[in-house]
Amino acid sequence: MRKILIAGTAVLSLCAVGAVFAGEDAAELFKTHCQSCHGADGGRAPGSGIAPIRGQNSADLLNMLEGYRDGTFGGQRKQVMVGVVKRLSDEQMKSLAEYAAAL
Ligand code: HEC
Repeated sequence: MRKILIAGTAVLSLCAVGAVFAGEDAAELFKTHCQSCHGADGGRAPGSGIAPIRGQNSADLLNMLEGYRDGTFGGQRKQVMVGVVKRLSDEQMKSLAEYAAAL
């Protein structure tokens, strides 16, 4: 009986950790992959003529990220971003676009 209770509690706390992680995932990704160049608030513009990513629409951001990946978008310094998006999955790009748009 006691064992079942302990197992139940463990499963419940795993679920709680999972839920929190889903919320923090995009913030973590942004910190790891984007912040050094675009700034913690997405307000820095690292490329000449490139707008800061904060305040942009999430669908536009996703289009740009996919464009860097597919070679259909980019300015003079696009190779920098091509290298960045190569390391991201579709899911990660999507949550990063949503996260950055909300900054
Ligand atoms: C090593 C520096 C660096 C990192 C890391 C980086 N970027 Fe960039 N980013 C740039 C540069 C430089 C440009 C301009 C590239 C060009 O000329 O197209 C750019 C451009 C962009 C643009 C296009 C903005 C516009 O309005 O044209 C978006 C969107 C973007 N980055 C998002 C991200 C996201 C999201 C991440 C994290 C996954 C990220 N970047 C990580 C340097 C970086």
